[in-house]
Formats: sequence, structure tokens, C-alpha cells
Amino acid sequence: MATPELAPSVMRFYGETVNEDDRLRTSADGRMELARTQELLRRFLPPAPARVLDVGGGTGVHAEWLVKDGYDLTLVDPVPRHVETASAVCRAVVGDARDLSEPDNSFDVVQLLGPLYHLPNPEDRRTALAEAQRVVKPGGLVVAAAINRYASLFEHVTYAHLHKERIRDSVSKILETAVYDGVRGFTLSYFHRAEELASELLTSGLTGVQVFGIEGPAWSLVKAAEQQPGEGPTDELIASAMEAACMAEPYPELLAASSHLLAVGRAPASISV
Ligand SMILES: C[S@@+](CC[C@H](N)C(=O)[O-])C[C@H]1O[C@@H](n2cnc3c(N)ncnc32)[C@H](O)[C@@H]1O
Repeated sequence: MATPELAPSVMRFYGETVNEDDRLRTSADGRMELARTQELLRRFLPPAPARVLDVGGGTGVHAEWLVKDGYDLTLVDPVPRHVETASAVCRAVVGDARDLSEPDNSFDVVQLLGPLYHLPNPEDRRTALAEAQRVVKPGGLVVAAAINRYASLFEHVTYAHLHKERIRDSVSKILETAVYDGVRGFTLSYFHRAEELASELLTSGLTGVQVFGIEGPAWSLVKAAEQQPGEGPTDELIASAMEAACMAEPYPELLAASSHLLAVGRAPASISV
């Protein structure tokens, strides 16, 4: 079967428009996303050296700390310039979440921290989750991130332009349809509700599924302080927002306010006969 086509806006956005290597290192909400993803993953990862497949791993920002932690990492991404940058950190190959070239039952952990954002067709997301389960060992960990359905509502307040007609219409369309068409600015994207993300992992056959808010309910206060004139967010504001993300974990209704969601689940263990 031929490798499925990647939407042109995804290739253009990551191949030409943005430098994905900066996203988690420079902006305050990006740094929150990196630190919380690290914290959450470290709770669930098996001890190093385990084999981790980072699907949609971009330029290797997560690969970098995982390799430092002692994991045996392979990164897959469809954007050649991402793979070229990530090759400095780990084994990195061009590929698509829907058609992995890795053998069955070969990784202890498979993480998809990005591919589900860019697969608006539910069949494509099912295929990506099925591929993750094919290559992960029985009982292995599968982790999947999503952009929250409501993230753009919060984000466009931080830029203080949600009251402008074009922006309001565009955000309303995302809220109604869960899809951004990738026509300008961002790329073709899908926005998940927390319960929908959990249900997609469960339906794919994963067990023990849990969903976390990555940045938590206060990220947009930090981003607003960064975007609006003034001193920018203080270290104390960022520390408080990080604390809020942890404190919110037992309250699923607060998941709706996080910018990104992180779901974890396990492949069924093999049955011995
Ligand atoms: C927002 S970036 C995330 C990068 C990195 N995983 C992180 O968390 O910072 C989304 C990544 O998903 C990749 N991607 C998009 N569609 C994909 C697909 N169908 N299969 C695998 N990766 C894909 C993009 O090339 C990009 O590197």
C-alpha cells in the first residue's frame, strides 16, 4: 500500500514557514508545554534504557532529553528538514504515523506528540493509533498528544484580537467544526475534546487510558503577559501556572482550559497459553 499523502499545508508550514525547533524553547507557553510533557512522561516511562519511538518527533526537542535520560530513541517525521536536525540527536527517519516502517512489537514506548493534530480525518487517526499499537510491545506504553478543542479561543484572547471579525469568525469555525483548514497562519489541524481523545485511544484497543492537561488551566494568563505590552510573565507567574496544571489533574472539567492534552494508555499484554 502506498504511503498516504500528507496535507500540503502541513508540509509547507513545517518545511518553510516555522522553525519548529524554537517552539518549545522560546515562548513561555512552549516552555511550559515542554516541562509538563517531561514531567508527565517521566511518570509513565519504563526505566531507561527502553526503546522509544517518537512519531512526529519534529526536530528532536523531546528526543534530546529522552536520550540524555538514557533511552534508545528512534524518531520518525514526514518533514525532511526536521529529520535532518533530529539526526544530530538520535536515529531519525522520514515517515508517516499512518504507515510506520518499524517491525511489529519492537518498541517499549511509542509516542505521538503531534501527528494527531494534523489528521482531521478520523480514519487517519485510527490508522495512526493502530500503527502505534502494531510496533509497540505487548503491555507497552502509547502516548498521544492533542491540541485542545478550545485552545484557539484562549489563545486569541492573549493576542487581544478576538473581537475582530475575521479572527472571531475563524475561531468560531474551529469551535464548531474542530478543524482549522490551514489557509493562513497555521496549518491544517484537528482540535480534540478530552473525552474524544480518551475514546479514540480506548477504541484503538489501548487499556488504562488517562488524559492530562499539559499546560493546565492558567497557561493563557502566562501567554497574555508575554504577548501584551509590559514586562512579560514573571518566573513566579509561570511557577504558579505550572502548579495550577498539577493541582487541576483530579478535576476533568478543567481539561477543557488546557492548550494541549496528553493521553497515555497501554497495549494489551500478551496472553500466555
Ligand atoms: C507541533 S509539531 C510537534 C513536534 C514534537 N513532537 C513536539 O512535541 O514538539 C507536529 C509534528 O508532527 C509531524 N506530523 C504531521 N503530520 C504527521 C504524520 N501524518 N505522521 C507523522 N508526523 C506528522 C510534523 O511534521 C511535526 O513535526
